[in-house]
Amino acid sequence: MRAVDLIRKKRDAGEHSREEINFLVSGFTRGEIPDYQMSAWLMATWIRGLSRAEIAALTEAMLHSGEMVSFPELPGKKVDKHSTGGVGDKTSLILAPIVAAGGLNVPMISGRGLGHTGGTLDKLESIPGFNTVLSLTDFRLVLRECGMALIGQTAEIAPADKKIYALRDVTSTVENVGLICASIMSKKLAEGIDALVLDVKTGSGAFMQREEDSVLLAELMVETGQLMGKKTVALITDMDQPLGRFAGHSHEVIESLEVLKSRGAADLRELSIELSAWMFYLGERTKSLDEGRLLAQKLLASGEALKKFRQGVSLQGGDARVVDDYAILPQAENRTEVKSTARGFLAATNCMEFGVALAMLGGGREQKEDKIDPGVGLEFHKRIGDCVAVGDTLVTIHYNADSKLAEAKQLIAESFRIADQQPPAKKLIRRLVGT
Ligand code: URA
Repeated sequence: MRAVDLIRKKRDAGEHSREEINFLVSGFTRGEIPDYQMSAWLMATWIRGLSRAEIAALTEAMLHSGEMVSFPELPGKKVDKHSTGGVGDKTSLILAPIVAAGGLNVPMISGRGLGHTGGTLDKLESIPGFNTVLSLTDFRLVLRECGMALIGQTAEIAPADKKIYALRDVTSTVENVGLICASIMSKKLAEGIDALVLDVKTGSGAFMQREEDSVLLAELMVETGQLMGKKTVALITDMDQPLGRFAGHSHEVIESLEVLKSRGAADLRELSIELSAWMFYLGERTKSLDEGRLLAQKLLASGEALKKFRQGVSLQGGDARVVDDYAILPQAENRTEVKSTARGFLAATNCMEFGVALAMLGGGREQKEDKIDPGVGLEFHKRIGDCVAVGDTLVTIHYNADSKLAEAKQLIAESFRIADQQPPAKKLIRRLVGT
């Protein structure tokens, strides 16, 4: 078998056999298939798509590229959540400590920034010293000690996703249901969890912008999880505007801490509580979702979740003083504002472009080796439905280098649609799949 023939096959809309997919995944993971051939195959796949059988084969091949861990030594259920990604989506930093404080185990394998979206690992790494590259032994130790551990894919766990994910990020091959399903489920099924809650984003800042595509992706992932014997549900949630008020690594850590301190943005708090409630319920910690919601609220109000965050940060080598002193986080040196030139109501945003603008300022990668600038960020001052006057600040940009500032500023300004009529309110949680 040769990679070049498989690229041609997919380019010409052929369907791969299980053996062909195994050949590509194992060859690429071992370094025998180079980046340029895998990139070509990913692009052909992005354009031509994958059949259900190919998606199942790809998920399995990526899952078996590494170990499937289990934690028989841990009392209590193991649960996790994964989001398909969006702008300002930082719920992992909030719900992992809530759920761990509630007595469940959260062995979370996350990703870095992908496309226009930010990644949990990059956000955590803005905390000085925080180590997201733990060995399997240390992952177990941290998990046993505090009930949560947040790491990336490793050479041991989901190594195929580690390499393919990094390549998709910089080759514009992210937004494909088959590739997303295989990427997410190969990581999550390797974690040794009992239950999984999926947050599938929909709207202008999501990879799947149309709700029907988000539902299809959710169904694929839920079916994959359930077939593997894991309790799995998906929430289809709004990404027509950023989640919370901030996007950018340090800013998102601060905003998460604000929610853990029972302050912060209402939408971010609501979604974090809802996802935590589902984790409690599927993990059999509570008998109902309502009980799960109450427990999450109680753990926030009592400071238990914040305490858990502090413990988790310090066990992973991070400077836990960050909880009380945000100045420890990298900050951008300069600020500028994007102001409205129209009056009316904020009717819609082209939310993906906020992520693209943030990446231009250094908050994302253009090439695999690029370093993130954690201090850059965007602060959003208006929500959809808000009244806007001429001269109102829409976004404050926190930046360091100004080489692409003008371009980023223009992109942001063009991403707001102001209209005369107030748009109808949209629900944050649109639908459930798998219940
Ligand atoms: N999150 C992932 O882990 N993988 C994807 O492909 C998209 C979102």
